Amino acid sequence: MENAFAARLIAWQQEHGRHDLPWQVADPYRVWLSEIMLQQTQVATVVDYYARFLARFPDVKTLAEAPLDDVLAAWSGLGYYSRARNLHKAAQRVIDAYGGAFPASRTELETLPGVGRSTAAAIAAFAFGQREAILDGNVKRVLTRAFGVAGFPGEKAVEKQLWRLAERLLPPGGIEAYTQGLMDLGATVCTRGKPACTVCPMVDGCVAAREGRTAELPTPRPK
Ligand code: ADE
Repeated sequence: MENAFAARLIAWQQEHGRHDLPWQVADPYRVWLSEIMLQQTQVATVVDYYARFLARFPDVKTLAEAPLDDVLAAWSGLGYYSRARNLHKAAQRVIDAYGGAFPASRTELETLPGVGRSTAAAIAAFAFGQREAILDGNVKRVLTRAFGVAGFPGEKAVEKQLWRLAERLLPPGGIEAYTQGLMDLGATVCTRGKPACTVCPMVDGCVAAREGRTAELPTPRPK
């Protein structure tokens, strides 16, 4: 089912996914900013903060040169303030180490403060069309259910297995639609509480749906 997985997801994203998010642009600064905000905050909340933040810091140079207190003030209300401190530091690194142009490779993006592997992959895919796999909480839920991967996904061996699976599933092209489709499916259909399996494009091959195990997958943290 693996190639069908990507093909179906892309078709679903084009028909039912989100196409009007303000960060669906090819500007790495905007993509990076949105991905950091979205790490711990829901889309509906981020939309307003994102617009205000961009109005105050329209580009990476403005952000890098601003006093940290101004950045923290603009972040006020989003919480997890280490994200804002890292954002400021990363902006300064993009200026100092890359002359203001974000690097296009996932591995270089990962060296920026606050940017982990999945966030780096999302930026590389959305801003640069790079064929990179993401694996955030939503994606872990989709993959553990679709492929019946048991074991707590926070555990090293399970996480490693999920990264390998995520990489194997990548389509040859259309990485932007595929990546957005994974995020949208996890956020709107394959939800934690009551997944909407009747409208899910993946239900045909889904192990959890077939075996009635959506409530058990992903496996919770062991007590
Ligand atoms: N969550 C994390 N990244 C996202 C994105 N680009 N769009 C929607 N939700 C997200």
